[in-house]
Amino acid sequence: APGYGKSGFTTVEVQTDKVRVADDAIYSTYAYENAVVEKVDGKYKVKPTVQEYEFKLDTKVPKTGLLLVGLGGNNGSTLTAAVTANRHNISFNTKNGKIEPNYFGSVTQAATIKLGIDANGKDVYAPFNEIVPLLHPNDFVIGGWDISKLNLAGAMQRAQVLDYDLQRQLVKHLEQIVPLPSIYYPDFIAANQSERADNLIPGEDKWAHVEHIRKDIREFKEKNDLDKVIVLWTANTERYADIIEGVNDTADNLLKAVKESHSEVSPSTIFAIASILEGVPYINGSPQNTFVPGCIELAEKHNAFIGGDDFKSGQTKLKSVLAQYLVDAGIRPVSVASYNHLGNNDGYNLSAPKQFRSKEISKASVIDDMIESNQILYNDKYGKTVDHCIVIKYVPAVGDSKVAMDEYHSELMLGGHNTVSIHNVCEDSLLATPLIIDLVVVSEFLSRVTYKKKNSEEDYHQFHSVLSFLSYWLKAPLTRPGFDPVNGLNKQRAGLENLIRGLVGLAPHNDLKLEERTV
Ligand code: NAI
Repeated sequence: APGYGKSGFTTVEVQTDKVRVADDAIYSTYAYENAVVEKVDGKYKVKPTVQEYEFKLDTKVPKTGLLLVGLGGNNGSTLTAAVTANRHNISFNTKNGKIEPNYFGSVTQAATIKLGIDANGKDVYAPFNEIVPLLHPNDFVIGGWDISKLNLAGAMQRAQVLDYDLQRQLVKHLEQIVPLPSIYYPDFIAANQSERADNLIPGEDKWAHVEHIRKDIREFKEKNDLDKVIVLWTANTERYADIIEGVNDTADNLLKAVKESHSEVSPSTIFAIASILEGVPYINGSPQNTFVPGCIELAEKHNAFIGGDDFKSGQTKLKSVLAQYLVDAGIRPVSVASYNHLGNNDGYNLSAPKQFRSKEISKASVIDDMIESNQILYNDKYGKTVDHCIVIKYVPAVGDSKVAMDEYHSELMLGGHNTVSIHNVCEDSLLATPLIIDLVVVSEFLSRVTYKKKNSEEDYHQFHSVLSFLSYWLKAPLTRPGFDPVNGLNKQRAGLENLIRGLVGLAPHNDLKLEERTV
């Protein structure tokens, strides 16, 4: 079809009076139904609520640039290679035959959403990216920073992720791309990374570093004639920053701390501050606490979008499905033991205790909301925790093929037990890179959605700064202060799909299937 594979291509037209399609926007009304619950004397008092919203989705997809922090890493180079291969339609030979480029593993590019049923009651699905106008990855303008100055052809070869015949054809496209110099505070990433740190912004003045990054963002935007830029951290995992009163607890204190070049301000927080001050969405793909309380407050003050933390790619994604399945089935997980070994540079960095600790915290939080959802299984009598053990080891020989082994040990009725063991080998960067695509496509889309309460005189607002709609792709979802994260994968997905459906005038998913079940 004309326009297929390009930004803004849609094929879905909903015939409803809930939607008005204008030249540059889709206006919709949406009844948000929920219930407010109070527990009184062991009984639930539930009051159904309905709030009508008016949504406006700007339909013009802007020319968008993506600036990656860690451009020369495995994910950064694989993303750039994947977009280049798809954009130029570069196919390649492997021992299994010829492979055409694709975006498998990306929800926005390779998954579908149920629209409704056909005349015979059979479900009908449309591609995820053909319902509302979305940015297409082939149109990403990619740039970024790395503390290693190797160009992207060299970075791709160093990563050892792609087949040789594809690498060979990509070299001429990638060798011109050289990462911008970056910020390196050696105390934050593993000491073993110092060997690759040869591309650094000089000096130790942290405010000058913020200014430098802001200028890089502005120049990238101007040079490429972009309407919008998104910055995403896919650099090494940093250690946690200590939260210190007067240093990073409020927006003002954080800015003051940067101006004083305080030692607890990490490179990733410098990038976040620069992005926030430029009004550019900033997404954190690693586990560290970039978004210290002062950084979240700064984003709120500037109405800038932030999202994080830590890509939810393999083991944790499965955990957020499996733990939910067990608890929803009334089975009581008592221990989850997760082992990983990997041999890429991420694994090398995570072999240092402080960086491992960041990952451990991020991986551990994923079952919390499921435990809290079920007081029959988790209570004072049976205990309120699951023994959750996380191990990561660096085994160079396996390279980018990460191995994950998980054991879920649960209690059944009458003292029975159920143990599920999972052994998963996956090519780490090919699993993670499509998540970067989705995070960028969905962040860009969310930044075009505005809303107001129906019939209010107010202007349309944008969503809250913390883009928790992105949680599907993130291990430890950053959530608006005062709210709990949702970890269950299906709930995260439903929230996003229902938003997309609502914007085109469709009700939330409904699985009652009454066409079949009534006579
Ligand atoms: P990598 O080690 O291959 O790449 C990281 C890159 O960041 C390197 O090129 C390094 O030179 C660069 N870097 C380090 N500090 C920097 C700084 N301050 N500024 C600019 N560049 C800097 O790692 P990979 O595999 O690409 O993963 C990237 C991040 O994504 C890691 O933190 C990892 O934990 C996280 N992640 C990866 C997943 C996956 O690959 N499946 C899943 C979840 C998270």
